[in-house]
Amino acid sequence: MNREEAKRRIEWLRKEIRRHDYLYYVEARPEISDREYDRLYRELEKLEAQFPDLVSPDSPTQRVGGQPLKEFPTVIHRIPMLSLSNAYSPEELRDFDTRVSRILENRRYTYIVEPKVDGVAVSLRYEKGTLVLGSTRGDGVRGDDITSNLKTIRTIPLHLLGSRYPEVLEVRGEVYMTKEGFARLNREREEKGEEPFANPRNAAAGSLKQLDPRIVAARPLDAVFYAVGEYRGIEFRTQEEVLKKLAQFGLRTTSRYWKCRDIEQCLKALEELKSVKEQFPFEIDGGVVKINERELYDILGSTAKSPRWAIAYKYEAEQAETVLKDIIVQVGRTGVLTPVAILEPVFVSGSTVSRATLHNEDEIRRKDIRIGDHVLVEKAGEVIPAVVGVIKEKRTGKEKIFRMPKKCPVCGEPVTRREGEVAVRCENLQCPAQLKRWIGYFAARGAMDIEGLGEVLVDQLVDEGLVKSPADIYRLTKKDLLKLERIADKSAENLIRAIDESRNRDLWRLIFALGIPHVGARTAQVLEEEFGSLDELARADLSRLTSIPDIGPVVAESIVRFFRNARNRRLIEELKRAGVRVTAARKKSAGRTPLENKTVVLTGALEGLTRQQAEELVRRAGGRPSGSVSSKTDLVIVGDNPGSKLEKARKLGIPTMDGREFVRMMKKAGLV
Ligand code: IVH
Repeated sequence: MNREEAKRRIEWLRKEIRRHDYLYYVEARPEISDREYDRLYRELEKLEAQFPDLVSPDSPTQRVGGQPLKEFPTVIHRIPMLSLSNAYSPEELRDFDTRVSRILENRRYTYIVEPKVDGVAVSLRYEKGTLVLGSTRGDGVRGDDITSNLKTIRTIPLHLLGSRYPEVLEVRGEVYMTKEGFARLNREREEKGEEPFANPRNAAAGSLKQLDPRIVAARPLDAVFYAVGEYRGIEFRTQEEVLKKLAQFGLRTTSRYWKCRDIEQCLKALEELKSVKEQFPFEIDGGVVKINERELYDILGSTAKSPRWAIAYKYEAEQAETVLKDIIVQVGRTGVLTPVAILEPVFVSGSTVSRATLHNEDEIRRKDIRIGDHVLVEKAGEVIPAVVGVIKEKRTGKEKIFRMPKKCPVCGEPVTRREGEVAVRCENLQCPAQLKRWIGYFAARGAMDIEGLGEVLVDQLVDEGLVKSPADIYRLTKKDLLKLERIADKSAENLIRAIDESRNRDLWRLIFALGIPHVGARTAQVLEEEFGSLDELARADLSRLTSIPDIGPVVAESIVRFFRNARNRRLIEELKRAGVRVTAARKKSAGRTPLENKTVVLTGALEGLTRQQAEELVRRAGGRPSGSVSSKTDLVIVGDNPGSKLEKARKLGIPTMDGREFVRMMKKAGLV
C-alpha cells in the first residue's frame, strides 16, 4: 500500500472506529462484535506504525499517551465558567421566575429542566471538529489544562461525529464516576490497604488531578455535556437545540430533560426527576432550570458569579433518623480494625440500611457518637451509608461511650496504632480474621482464580484449622474436604482440580495474590516483567525497585518489608514445595520472532513512533519491553537523544541496537 492509499484507509478506519466507539460507549448499542472492532483497531495501529507521520493526536489510538506531567499548564477561559445560584424550595424557585418575568417584561419564554449532575465541571474545545483542549473550571476564569486526562475517557470524542464541523465549539459539562465504578474502585483500594474515596464526586475530582494519564485511564470515568462556551460557525437558538446538536456531534448529553411552559410545570418536572434520579448512571443533587430561548440570555445577563437565566434547584440529601444499637469492630485483610454501626433498620434513598461505616475512632470522637444514640444516617454519595450526626436532645444519659478495643476482637492479640496513622491494626498475621480475608483474596478471580473456593468454604477451612496459610490450600485432599459440612463428593473433586490448575497461573497473579500492601494487579504485572521470578523479586532492594519507572518509594518499601518477614519467606518456600509455579512463563510464539523472550529497553525517540507504539512492536516481535536497564536486560534499542539508560547499558556491557536498525528489522520480519 502506498502512502496515499494508506492515508485514505487510515481516514476511513478512524471514522469507522469513532462511529463504533459512539455506538458502543454512548449509545450502548454496538453494531459489530468486539472481534470485528479489534480487527479495525489493529489495522489502524498497524498502518500508523508503518506511516508514523500520519499519526494524529485525535486518532482513536492516541487515547492514553504521553508522559506524566510535572504540573498542569493554566488555561484562561475566554468566556468565564460561571456557577449557578441555588433555590431550595418551591417559593425560592417562584421568586426566580418573578425576577425573570420582570426583566423580560412582555417577552414570551419557556423553560428546560435538566438533571444537575454532581461531578466535576470541565470544558472541551473542538476546532474544526478536533479536540484541541480540555480543562477544569478552576476559579471560573483560570483552570488547568487536563487534555491528556480527558482524552482517556472513552465517551469523550477525540473528533466530533458528522461531516460539517464548526470552526470553534467549546462545550461544557461534567466528568463523573459511575456509581458502579465507584463501588468497584473503592473495593480495590481497600483491598490494597489504600484510603477509599468518600463519594463518587471526590473520586472523579481526585482522578482528574492525577498527573499520569495512565492512572486516569484505569479509573471508571465518564462525562456528560449540557452547555456551550465559545463557538464560531454554528448557531443555537434554544437550550434544547444545544442538547440536540451536542448529541449529534457524538457528545453524551442527559438522557432526559423536560420542556416546561411555566414555573409550575418546572416544579412538577423537578418532582418527577427526583423520583427517577436513581436510574441515571451519575449522582444527581438537584435539577437545573434554564430559560430555553437563548436570545433572551443577553437581556437577562449575569451577576459576577452566575447567570440570571438559570438556577439550580437542590434536593436535600436524604437522611433518616434511627437508633444506633451497637458498634462492632471488624478486622480487615490488612489487619485494620474498623468500627461499624449496627442500626435499627431504616429506609433511606431507596433501600433499607442496618449498618453504616464509622471509619475510625477519631471520627467517632469528633462527632461524639455514643452507643444508644438517636442518629441521622445518610447515604453518602448515595452509595455508602454513613452516620452524619447525633440528635443530642434525645439522649437519656444511658448512652455509652465507645472505645476501640486494646485487643483484637478475633484473636485477642494486642492491637497497635502506627505513628501518624488513624488506623488501629492487629499485627498478628496468624489472626483468623486476617487469615480468612487473605485466603479469600488469594483465591479470588483477579488473583489465583481458584473456582469454588468462596467465602463460606474459606471460613470453614480456617475454623477447622485445615488452612493456616495460602500454601496449605495446596496440601488439601479430597478426604479433608469431605470432613467439612455440606460438601458433596463432586464439588470436593472439582475444587481439588481447580486448586491443582491454579498451580500454573501467571506469575503476576501469584505476586498479586500474596497481598503485599500497595501492590495491585497492574504493579504485579510490572514486577513480573521486570523480575521474571519470585526469588528475583524477593532479592530486590529499595534502590533496585525504585529504579523501575512504575514503582514509587511507598510501593518499594512495602515490597521490601514483605519479603524481609521470615514468615512470608517461609510461605514462598512452601508454595514452591507445593508445586506452585514461581517463575514467569516462557512466552510461546508461533514461529521464531526476532526478539523472542528478550527483555528489551527503549531509550530516546524512534522515528516518529510513540513510546507506546514502539513497545507494542517489541511485544509483537516476542520481546518484553521494560522500563529500566539492569543485568537482566538483553537488548537496549537506542533512538534519538537517548537518556542515561544508554550509559547504564554500556557500563553493564548490554548489547544495543540503533533505532533505525530496529525498525528495519521489524519491517524485514513483516511485523510492520
Ligand atoms: S449549566 C452558567 N447545567 O453545577 C452555568 N450546570 O452549581 C452553566 N452543573 O457550574 C451551567 N449539572 O458545573 C448546568 N445540567 C447542568 C448542570 C450544571 C451540573 C454544574 C455546573 C455548574 C454547577 C453550579
